[in-house]
Amino acid sequence: MKAYYVTTAIDYANGSPHLGHAYEKVLTDVIARIQRLQGESVHFLTGLDEHGQKVQQGAQRNGLTPQEACDRTAVEFKKLCRDLQISNDDYIRTTEPRHKEVVQQILTDFYDRGEIYKADYKGYYSTRQEQFLLEKDKVDGKWPEIFGEVIEMTESNYFFRLSKYQDWLIDYLKTNENFIFPKFRTKQVLEFLKEPINDLCISRPKERLSWGIPLPFDSNYVTYVWFDALINYISAIEYGKASFNDKWPADFHVIGKDILLPAHAVYWPIMLHAANIALPKCLLVHGWWLKSGEKMSKSQGNCIDPLQLIEKVGVDAFRYFVMREMNVGQDSDFSSDLFLTRYHSDLGNDLGNLVSRFLNMTERYADRKIPAAAIDEDLEKEIKNLWSTTEKDVQELLSNLQFHIALEKIFTFVRGINRYAEQRAPWKLAKSTDPIDKQRLETSLATMAEGLRLAATLLTPFIPSSCKKILNSLGANEITSWKDQFSWDSKLTGNSIGEKFILYPRVEDPV
Ligand code: ME8
Ligand code: MG
Repeated sequence: MKAYYVTTAIDYANGSPHLGHAYEKVLTDVIARIQRLQGESVHFLTGLDEHGQKVQQGAQRNGLTPQEACDRTAVEFKKLCRDLQISNDDYIRTTEPRHKEVVQQILTDFYDRGEIYKADYKGYYSTRQEQFLLEKDKVDGKWPEIFGEVIEMTESNYFFRLSKYQDWLIDYLKTNENFIFPKFRTKQVLEFLKEPINDLCISRPKERLSWGIPLPFDSNYVTYVWFDALINYISAIEYGKASFNDKWPADFHVIGKDILLPAHAVYWPIMLHAANIALPKCLLVHGWWLKSGEKMSKSQGNCIDPLQLIEKVGVDAFRYFVMREMNVGQDSDFSSDLFLTRYHSDLGNDLGNLVSRFLNMTERYADRKIPAAAIDEDLEKEIKNLWSTTEKDVQELLSNLQFHIALEKIFTFVRGINRYAEQRAPWKLAKSTDPIDKQRLETSLATMAEGLRLAATLLTPFIPSSCKKILNSLGANEITSWKDQFSWDSKLTGNSIGEKFILYPRVEDPV
């Protein structure tokens, strides 16, 4: 059986991780975890993009070799994955031999088949973007700020025949409308492809840039960093060996909107097609985290440090917030106030308090054992109905990548259990001498327990640690499969509950 293969972009090794990187990993992790819970065998890849001018320059500034600089950054990014509880199966670094070998194999193949040729290039070059520019890239006669320093030069270089595949790509995009999610982005790509595209310069002379993968057919050059980086998606899964087909094609390449064009929507599909490799099934393009309306980025210096946030509020609060706030594909502004509100109201008041109340009452009224549900009155019927619509809606929302609405629905269900508890008022029932009230009391505890179990089961891919704690406190195990877990039943009857604990303690100022 082919594995379900998901990837993130590989992060540039020229800076520290920020909220944007963390979000992309959490989003991909949630997808990977959902697939595993649904019984797929998942392969989840993330990694580090280590070559290129910016890495070379950054290392120089810090008095390090580029390799030393990358080794340090790799430690930092791997720690980010650990701290975010990212369940990646592999981590690729583009300086690894397994990667370089595949890049050189593809280059050799392209060169041998005439897909790559040498030509003189005369024109402008942006050092910041590491790309050649055309007159038409000027705005009002000037080079836009994003290009940084622009120099004029003449150079011999190697080119990949991108342009000859332009019509093929247009056709592919038109006939595969699910290739890019959200769909509206396909239009942008088609718009971009209305102008003729140039062949892609895939070499950099060593005297200008030495930190790259040498061209196998000309040792005076290294490989352009994007041509190198994109190949990570196949080098990591042993392209060229039989096992490659156990994973490829990827089910999702998860990327941010800034790297869709031209890299993932033009270069990559054409590179694959020219190499006779199937295309990935879907590019999942997420939006940006903004700070006061501006993209969070290293060059803006307006980044939120995810590790600092996690240290203060815990990994699940972070995971919950980014998944709850971001409508996949759109942008979202980060604000500490909103973060605190979500943390205290959703996680603290709705979920955390429910767990505490349940544990308290079961200790007080049921000798720490989850009773059997003895009756089924309107209040029980109501909450079970709410569960069945929640479950149905959430499954559909998850399959459409509408994670923020799915979480909203799950928390509406959690609030429903809280309302149920208030209406049943076990503390009042406990004072009654009527035997039916004793049954109602037992039923109320059983119902809260079952509601919590179901909520924690659905929430597992989003906030895995919290869900494990909740399930353990119900005397149940962490959920590793969703099979047969969603029907309202009496699995928990007779379980001893765990010690009381505060799931989400109040915090003052997260950032
Ligand atoms: O682009 N909000 O690396 P990178 C959301 N090495 N996502 C953001 C973001 C923000 N504010 N800022 C960045 C690269 N990202 C290349 C990728 S893939 C073969 C090579 C996302 O470190 C960005 O869109 O600049 C990208 O998907 C990822 O973080 C890494 O960005
Ligand atoms: Mg970037």
